[in-house]
Amino acid sequence: MVITIDGPSGVGKSRVSRALATALGVPYLDTGSYYRAATHVAIQNGADPSDQSAVLEALSDAKLAVVDGVLWLDERDIADSLRSPQVTAAVSTVAAHPLVRSRIVDMQRRWVADEGGSAVVEGRDIGTVVFPNAEVKVFLTADGATRAARRSRDAEVSGTSVEQIRTDMERRDAADSTRIISPLRPAEDAVTIDTSSLTVAQTVKQILDLVGKA
Ligand code: DC
Repeated sequence: MVITIDGPSGVGKSRVSRALATALGVPYLDTGSYYRAATHVAIQNGADPSDQSAVLEALSDAKLAVVDGVLWLDERDIADSLRSPQVTAAVSTVAAHPLVRSRIVDMQRRWVADEGGSAVVEGRDIGTVVFPNAEVKVFLTADGATRAARRSRDAEVSGTSVEQIRTDMERRDAADSTRIISPLRPAEDAVTIDTSSLTVAQTVKQILDLVGKA
């Protein structure tokens, strides 16, 4: 069974998806890390993130593998680089390239198939594009202040004010929601859960109830 967890940043997608995958005993895939890895290799190659061909070329030379739920590049854990301010600032530009997306979507589908076809998959277009036939689809939301406050607890934004975090987050959401290909939006058959006043455990419980009914 595939369970898709979509939504903007700061709604608790990663924590909820990881806890849900553990509860169900299935693997977890963070699809945003692929767009971040494409952005990282492009920057490393000196490519302009807005140049689709240059990003594709950088991506072709990269060896990506998921190790214990974490995306590795060329046999190295590059988690810190994937969360760097440079990558975060440019990733929406890279994620808007149609050919980059189709290559990355192929990798994600192949990964789930190789894992046996069951997984919790987190992202922006998972219920709409990557796994449109998934058995359970969830779209997480939360109010802007809650999302910014949650993001501010992440190590990579330490030293940045909550106001600045909120502004950056809203800019990225606007880019992700208005892009022509695979915009961030709930699938028609997704269940929306507002996590503003829910703990991770409460959110996971609601999703487990949906899984039980599927
Ligand atoms: O979830 P995240 O912050 O790591 O995502 C990084 C970027 O990648 C974000 O700007 C949205 C984009 N993304 C996407 O377009 N499609 C996905 N399935 C996952 C992430």
